[in-house]
Amino acid sequence: MDELNLTGYKKQSQKVKERFDRLKQREVVLKVENLCKTFDDKKGPILKDVSLKTYRREFTSIIGPSGCGKSTLIRLIAGLEDIGSGKIIVNDEEIDGPGIERGMVFQGYTLFPWLTVVENIMYGLRRKGESKTEARDNALTWVKIVGLQKYEDAYPSQLSGGMKQRVAIARSLATHPKMLLMDEPFGALDAQTRSTMQSYLLQIWKNINISVVFITHDLEEAIYLSDRIIVLKANPGEIAEIIEVPVSRPRTPEQFFTPEFLETKKRLEELIHPKSNEPEEKIKIVKLTQAGDDVF
Ligand SMILES: Nc1ncnc2c1ncn2[C@@H]1O[C@H](COP(=O)(O)OP(=O)(O)OP(=O)(O)O)[C@@H](O)[C@H]1O
Ligand SMILES: [Mg+2]
Repeated sequence: MDELNLTGYKKQSQKVKERFDRLKQREVVLKVENLCKTFDDKKGPILKDVSLKTYRREFTSIIGPSGCGKSTLIRLIAGLEDIGSGKIIVNDEEIDGPGIERGMVFQGYTLFPWLTVVENIMYGLRRKGESKTEARDNALTWVKIVGLQKYEDAYPSQLSGGMKQRVAIARSLATHPKMLLMDEPFGALDAQTRSTMQSYLLQIWKNINISVVFITHDLEEAIYLSDRIIVLKANPGEIAEIIEVPVSRPRTPEQFFTPEFLETKKRLEELIHPKSNEPEEKIKIVKLTQAGDDVF
């Protein structure tokens, strides 16, 4: 990096520090304190001593190797699993099961297949006590927000993967939760739809007062979307590092090539795929008897 760039980057660092100081002055929406979770005593704890905070309108991602406990952590925050020990506090109240202030979007398409788009979105609103007319009006507003006007009466089987996830996001947000919990919501989408959905989620997030906790395997997705990235390590799942993403907002795909973006990606790679001094374990390949030797 030449001198000019280096100075520019250093200048930005001070700006970045100020940005995060301001973020941490906002109200705390989620507080996880010394959270531990064990499913099977013989296997030991899955999550150990996890403590973190997220702030109002913050976009936080959780990243870590497969099986380190990311889904377990978000399911605990959603109130879908019993807490082992520790505390989860949302809006100053310790949680005790699921709550309307926490919306959730999973990787798999979890829409009710027998309900239309608008009926899927109405579902939570009706449970919240809205009349049928009120719920339908509100649901139709969300159909518009997610750009699916022509599909309000379509069934999930008639929608593409990206459209289904837009309905799932609308369904979660229609009840005005304080937090949106997302577990690899774009994991099943092709690369192009995924990148459209990322930009799309940023637009929605910009326009409503919501804190997002987002799980992903994709380092670039985490950097592109997040204010901070919580990196978990495996066995047991503990926080390895919390990264404050220095990339400025509003985010654009061009930023993927900026020094800030690339440095953050390098740090994430070091944390998630640490270099080992051990020689790589050789995979033994059993030769099939019918295979010839003429493959090159
Ligand atoms: N209900 C359960 N009962 C028993 N063990 C469980 C249960 N749920 C998760 N586990 C175990 O907890 C560990 C962490 O699982 P989890 O799904 O949270 O990981 P993850 O980080 O989300 O993985 P991935 O990146 O593959 O989605 C795994 O070893 C899994 O087998
Ligand atoms: Mg998972």
